[in-house]
Amino acid sequence: MRKKLNILLLFDSPYSKPRGYDYAEEFQSSDWEAESDVSKALCALGHKVRLLGLYNDIIPLIEEIKSEKADVVFNLAEVFNQKSHLEKNIVCVLEMLGVIQTGASAASLFICNDKALTKKILNFHRIKVPQFHTFYRGHRIWLPKTLKLPLVVKPLCEEASRGIAQASVTDSEESFCERVRFIHETMKHDAIAEEYIDGRELYVGVFGNKRITVLPPTEIKFGTMSEDEPRIATYKAKWDNQYRKKWGIRNVFSARLAHGVEEKVKDTCERAYRALNMRCYARFDVRMTAENQVFIIEANANPSIGRYEDFAMAAEKIGISYQKLMQRIIDLAFRR
Ligand SMILES: Nc1ncnc2c1ncn2[C@@H]1O[C@H](COP(=O)(O)OP(=O)(O)O)[C@@H](O)[C@H]1O
Ligand SMILES: [Mg+2]
Repeated sequence: MRKKLNILLLFDSPYSKPRGYDYAEEFQSSDWEAESDVSKALCALGHKVRLLGLYNDIIPLIEEIKSEKADVVFNLAEVFNQKSHLEKNIVCVLEMLGVIQTGASAASLFICNDKALTKKILNFHRIKVPQFHTFYRGHRIWLPKTLKLPLVVKPLCEEASRGIAQASVTDSEESFCERVRFIHETMKHDAIAEEYIDGRELYVGVFGNKRITVLPPTEIKFGTMSEDEPRIATYKAKWDNQYRKKWGIRNVFSARLAHGVEEKVKDTCERAYRALNMRCYARFDVRMTAENQVFIIEANANPSIGRYEDFAMAAEKIGISYQKLMQRIIDLAFRR
C-alpha cells in the first residue's frame, strides 16, 4: 500500500495570510484553479495536506518547516512578492532547509528564468533556438544588423506572457527601439530580442529524472485571428477568456504531424531536458516552421499543472490520470 504522507502544499499568494489559513474561499475562484486541483488530488490520494501561501515574507516558510513535520513540499510557487525572478529563491531556501520538494532545482529555475542563458546552453548542445540579442537596462538601444526582422521583443526574465502583446513583434528600427524602451522603462525589466519564428506553436510536457517521458504535444490554434498579423501567444491570448472566445483561440492536441516530425519534436525536447539538467517535470514551448524545423522558444521549469491545463491533459491522453500524475511527481521528488 502507498505510504500516506504529510505534504506541505506551497504556493504564491497576492497577499499574506497567517500559517494555517485554509484558503477554502480562494480555491473556489478560477485564479486558484491549479492550487485547488492539486490539493484535491493529494487529499484523494489519502495524503495529509497543509497549505501555505507566500506573499512577500519568507519567514512563515521557515517557521512552518521547523515546527511541523513535512515529508515533502509540493511546490507550486511561481513568484515571490509578485516577482518571477524570485521563484528560484524560494527553492534555494527549501534546499538550505534540506527538505524534499517536488519540481525543479533552484539551479534549473535560475537557468530557465533567463531566456538568453537558456538559449546559450541549448545552442551549445546544437538544439535550435531563435537568434537573439539581449538589451540590459541603462545601455544603448540599437537594432542589431545580425538579426533578421521581424523581431520579438520580450522581458528577459518574465513568465506567463507578461509584457507580450502584438506590439512585441516589431518590423522596423523605430518600433523595435520603442518596444525595448517599453520593457526597460515601463516594465523595469531587461529585454531580449529574438528573430520571429513563423509556424505552429506546440507545448510539450516532459517528466522524469533519469528515465524520462515526453508527453504528446498540444498546440495553440489562433482561430479567426488575421493571418496577416503575427500569431503569438500574447498575454490576452493566454489569459483573457473573452478575447480567446472572440477569436476562437484554443489549445488542442496537435493534429497528426507529418511522418517523423512528432519524433523530431519529442527528441528535441528530450535533449533539451537533459541539456538543461531538468528533473521532475517541465514544459517546452516549441515552434515548428513550414519546413518542419523545430525551435525551442522557451523552457518552463515548474510549469502550471492544473487539472485542465496542457501538461495534465497530455498526461491523461497517454493514460496517466490526474491523481496518478500527482503521485508520480511526488515519487520523483523522493528519487533524486
Ligand atoms: N522567437 C519567437 N518567435 C515566434 N514567437 C515567439 C518568439 N518568442 C516568443 N514568441 C511568442 O510569444 C509567446 C511568449 O513567449 P515566451 O518566450 O514563451 O515567454 P513567456 O515566458 O512569457 O511564456 C510564445 O508562446 C510565442 O507565441
Ligand atoms: Mg512561454
